[in-house]
Amino acid sequence: MKLNENERNALRVTVDYTNMTDKYLGKKGFSKKQLDGYEKAAKAAHAYVSENRGKDELFMGWTELPYNQDEIVADILKTAQHVRENFENFVVLGIGGSALGPTMAFNALCHLHYNDLPKEKRGGPRFFVEDNVDPVRMKELLDVLDVTKTCFNVISKSGATSETMTQYLIVADLLKKAGKDVKEHVIFTTDEKRGNLVKISNELGGVKSYVLPDGVGGRFSELCPVGLLPAAVLGIDIEKLLQGAAYMDELCKESDFRNNPALLCATLQIASMENGKNIGVMMPYSDNLRFVSDWYAQLWAESLGKNVTLKGKACNVGQTPVKALGVTDQHSQVQLYTEGPYDKVVTFLSVTNYKEKSPIPHGCENIPDVSFLGGHTMEELIQAENKATAYALTKAGRLNYTITLPEVNEFTLGQILYLFELQTAYAGAMLDIDTFNQPGVEAGKKATFALLGKPGYAEQKKELDQADSDPQYVI
Ligand code: PA5
Repeated sequence: MKLNENERNALRVTVDYTNMTDKYLGKKGFSKKQLDGYEKAAKAAHAYVSENRGKDELFMGWTELPYNQDEIVADILKTAQHVRENFENFVVLGIGGSALGPTMAFNALCHLHYNDLPKEKRGGPRFFVEDNVDPVRMKELLDVLDVTKTCFNVISKSGATSETMTQYLIVADLLKKAGKDVKEHVIFTTDEKRGNLVKISNELGGVKSYVLPDGVGGRFSELCPVGLLPAAVLGIDIEKLLQGAAYMDELCKESDFRNNPALLCATLQIASMENGKNIGVMMPYSDNLRFVSDWYAQLWAESLGKNVTLKGKACNVGQTPVKALGVTDQHSQVQLYTEGPYDKVVTFLSVTNYKEKSPIPHGCENIPDVSFLGGHTMEELIQAENKATAYALTKAGRLNYTITLPEVNEFTLGQILYLFELQTAYAGAMLDIDTFNQPGVEAGKKATFALLGKPGYAEQKKELDQADSDPQYVI
């Protein structure tokens, strides 16, 4: 069911950038004239993204995901129902873009102790995302799983990522040893035609598979089957998620950055970088949104950290994303943000209506330092602390702005996902780099292949063997 205009307006995500300007920050903030100076670059970035949206060859197919997946969504909903009825556990095997999105959506939209709830309250299987090859983690996951009652969603565009394929080898072996038909326990999300998962599927005689579309890179994949299948298995309304994304797309049509939330955020970040703020802190005041920071960190870091422009000129650009959680990190990192170097810009993610209020009871009446809390709610407290931290940073001349979600639900999460993806595409265009490649990641992948003896990497293995630590520098 589509939301009507009033419902959409009531759930509209907003961006407040007052604390980026000279209004309260004086000379530490941007004047109107300074921001106006970015108008031309912002317009050019908007034009570039608008002209190239949907182009697979440029890896911009993700822009169309809110619109072109009706059949896929219907199929995913059927599969999800089957999984919910037949399995006790659902495990995502993937890394990077294949794991961070599913983790984020799970944490944002499900009960924070989902796996600990009884089955009737969960409604779906227990849920795990395994995005590492720490041997202890793998072994200890298997200690709490019965593989014969588990569905494994193997997500890899290339099917060549050592981490994911190692995990696949381990679970396939266990399933075989338990006398199970592997193909009944795995679902692949991968490239349509290329890659090893396609070959494995053929060998196993046809595994239920979803396509990671050509024009969609890992970190832009949460709104395709990479994220939609796990979300649907969890009972998340994936149609609402896509509707939220489409709504944000609609809000980002204008080329004037003051009327386009994603272009505004991109412009604020670029202006900050150019003014020496090379650290971008993402600080949600919501445990449900804490993994948005992890997902965003990959999106921002892997997309913008580049050493060559589109015109082939050497550069070293990008901004280091830092993850923080309100209020937890007020008691950890905020001291540094307030008084340390002027090298950061903080993005707050705020929530207007939390799904719980949690009233604070009266008590300790003889101790005014404690009793003043009674009669308020925890929602009031977290919001007060959010406002207080933004105020303190502003008083200290620190750039910060706030993205507010009226509540955390599918529609608002869809909006912020699309907002951050578009923001990244705009920022990449302003930096004149290839936002959608990741040669730095590929280099590490290849070196791992060489170290573990993959055919074709002998030369690199020799070089790596010679690159061992020099004992004179080891104490
Ligand atoms: O965003 C990206 O492209 C990467 O983080 C990939 O998602 C990650 O390296 C995993 O690659 P693959 O999907 O090929 O297994």
